[in-house]
Amino acid sequence: MKQQVYYFDNNATTRVAPEVIDAMVPFLKEYWGNPSSAYQFGHQVAAHVDEARQKAAALINADPREIVFTSCGTESNNSAIHSALVTHPGKKHVIMSAVEHSSNIKFGDFLQHHGYEVTYLPVESDGSLDLHVLEKSIRPDTAIVSIMWANNETGAIFPIEEIAAICRSKATLFHTDAVQACGKLKMDAQETAVDLLSLSAHKLHAPKGIGLLYVKRRVKYHPYVIGGSQERGRRGGTENVANIVAFGRAAELAMASIDDEKTRVRALRDKLENGILRNIPGTVRNGGKEPRLPNTTNIAFDGVEAEGILLLLDQAGVCASSGSACTSGSLDPSHVLLAMGCSAARARGSVRFSLGIYNTEAEVDYVLKHLPGIVEKLRANVPVEAANPQT
Ligand SMILES: Cc1ncc(COP(=O)(O)O)c(C=O)c1O
Repeated sequence: MKQQVYYFDNNATTRVAPEVIDAMVPFLKEYWGNPSSAYQFGHQVAAHVDEARQKAAALINADPREIVFTSCGTESNNSAIHSALVTHPGKKHVIMSAVEHSSNIKFGDFLQHHGYEVTYLPVESDGSLDLHVLEKSIRPDTAIVSIMWANNETGAIFPIEEIAAICRSKATLFHTDAVQACGKLKMDAQETAVDLLSLSAHKLHAPKGIGLLYVKRRVKYHPYVIGGSQERGRRGGTENVANIVAFGRAAELAMASIDDEKTRVRALRDKLENGILRNIPGTVRNGGKEPRLPNTTNIAFDGVEAEGILLLLDQAGVCASSGSACTSGSLDPSHVLLAMGCSAARARGSVRFSLGIYNTEAEVDYVLKHLPGIVEKLRANVPVEAANPQT
């Protein structure tokens, strides 16, 4: 018999909404033409791509002409920084926070190996940024500042409007990775002075493999994927029509469910977090309580490895994550938690639960029922020297 899945890893990916599947299927079965083709069979597909572009733009209050569909959030992030450097060849400096997603951090590392300078801004113990440090770090040769809207591991929300205003006052381009904020927070690209903004549809109940980059009007842009003249010459490659349509439908649904995220999902997250902190000794939340995404909690468990917790949770049908990258069989401590000043042991003992619109109170109760026993069991087996997370 198939085991029930208790899914608490919505920051990793989300279930594709049935409404989204219904919207995309006709573009796999019947309307499979190339939207750039010169006949009706292609034109009618192009009209649906346009409609999806309008819906995706509406989610962030952008003009549809400011939307460039990409293959994912990673491509959007890489493209934004790449474009800033190519369009400003005299500027060789990039700024980002030390807690960015690996698609930014590793692109920064790549740039450093190719003659560019990257400043990784430190964060405070609650995960927040010191905006004075950001302001002082911007130099005449800074091509772009890239700061995420919300952190994927802790849910910490950054003051994007203030950051955008600082960048504008220094005439420096500003990009934000809004992959985790999207659908959970209201976003307004017109009102915020962001120049470039990344989204990824699989965090929004659409399939994997489709993202977008918002490029503000009059911001110079150079494509990262070079080829045909799709996306008004800003991204080569035949459009992934079914996924683009899916993104449009998911954007519509996200706009309708944003209040649910802020109220019902937040209440479930708080119940889970408070229940764990109250009922399991030696637990502490990583990062500040607010401002934070309504769906995310990241908790350190003294004296246990997250790997063990996740394994036993998995056996009970619960999906959660450690936020650590699994490299060649060994779990590296999260670069986000280390940047917040957590010890490596505490980072290794931290688990992220990220909820979504499909979670129920019964599922939260299930985790709260099973987790104390799992932690107790692991602690009973732990060697004494590993039980002190301060080392
Ligand atoms: C904050 C953030 N940025 C970027 C990405 C990358 O998105 P994608 O998986 O679509 O490449 C993720 C995915 O986890 C993310 O959480």
